Amino acid sequence: MSDWFHDAHVLITGGLGFIGSNLAKHLVRLGSRVTLLDSMIPSYGATLDNIAEIRASVHLNFSDVRDMHSLKYLVRGQDVIFSLAGQVSHIDSMTDPLTDLDINCRSQLSLLDCCRAENPRVRLVLAGTRQIYGKPKFLPVTEAHPYSPADVNGINKLAAEMYFTLYSQVYDMHTVCLRLTNTYGPHMDLKNSQKGFVGVFLKQVLAGKPIQIFGTGNQRRDFNHVDDVCRALILAAATTNARGECFNLGHHQHYSLLEFVQVLHQILPFEFQCVPFPPSRQAIDIGDYYGDYSKFSQATQWQPRIGLDEGLRETVEFFQARTAYWS
Ligand SMILES: NC(=O)c1ccc[n+]([C@@H]2O[C@H](COP(=O)([O-])OP(=O)(O)OC[C@H]3O[C@@H](n4cnc5c(N)ncnc54)[C@H](O)[C@@H]3O)[C@@H](O)[C@H]2O)c1
Repeated sequence: MSDWFHDAHVLITGGLGFIGSNLAKHLVRLGSRVTLLDSMIPSYGATLDNIAEIRASVHLNFSDVRDMHSLKYLVRGQDVIFSLAGQVSHIDSMTDPLTDLDINCRSQLSLLDCCRAENPRVRLVLAGTRQIYGKPKFLPVTEAHPYSPADVNGINKLAAEMYFTLYSQVYDMHTVCLRLTNTYGPHMDLKNSQKGFVGVFLKQVLAGKPIQIFGTGNQRRDFNHVDDVCRALILAAATTNARGECFNLGHHQHYSLLEFVQVLHQILPFEFQCVPFPPSRQAIDIGDYYGDYSKFSQATQWQPRIGLDEGLRETVEFFQARTAYWS
């Protein structure tokens, strides 16, 4: 894998965000020539601080994936493109559905079509989401589970995936979709309170404030440390038999929200209570979710290596040393 990426030209859209910036560090270590595209929209996850230690080793392109004209030039000469640019908030996708449509769906089709015209041999990897399944009908959720997205974000991400698969089938392009679950780790965006409970809980705890858990706290979830997700993205691009496929990520350990809070509590004590769901959250809550990632393991030998206790401890220590990131 390391040989494959050495000297490879790699474009990461959303490269200054949480997962994109962590991925960039992995790729710089592998010797890739990395370009990071990001629109730097203030309320999203991008910051130059995320890439401070690799700033001299990457090219930056401040542009928007909704601008097809610049995309056309940027895709030329790339060996791999990781499509990570996204409107990430499920709540915001309900209050501003058209922005979600433009970024998470239409821009993905633009990207594919630019590649078809300008660089059809490029390998494309999409950061998809478990949200496409909606409320699980069985657990663990496999890729054969029916799609029933619970929010606008899930629908747009599903359409994007389907375009990726279609372009592989019809134009014989190398596309891979990974369905990410709750991803956490250094550089996650703690400032935006609409991005999911892990960031919200971490910010509260770091600030010495109590946590509110919506519902009973018995909802089960799986979690991936960002380093495990970056290894998965890299393997998805490098592995020939992943081509044209969609895969779940996940972890063999899953936790109820109360158990998650207990793990966090052992690292940094805080107070917490269960409160009723606000109606806007209840309407899009998916209940229990954990995924079966055996299809991806079989294709690539990927396994998550970092457990929640170790990963959360590292994440807390990272943010404790960088108050400006979240306060
Ligand atoms: N973090 C998770 O738990 C999780 C779970 C499932 C899926 N994903 C997917 O992974 C991808 C990365 O997520 P993240 O957690 O790193 O979020 P993030 O918000 O930290 O990063 C997204 C990046 O995309 C950039 N961006 C947004 N719109 C853009 C546009 N129009 N043009 C150019 N850049 C734009 C943002 O500025 C930001 O830097 C997203 O596509 C997201 O849907 C993440």
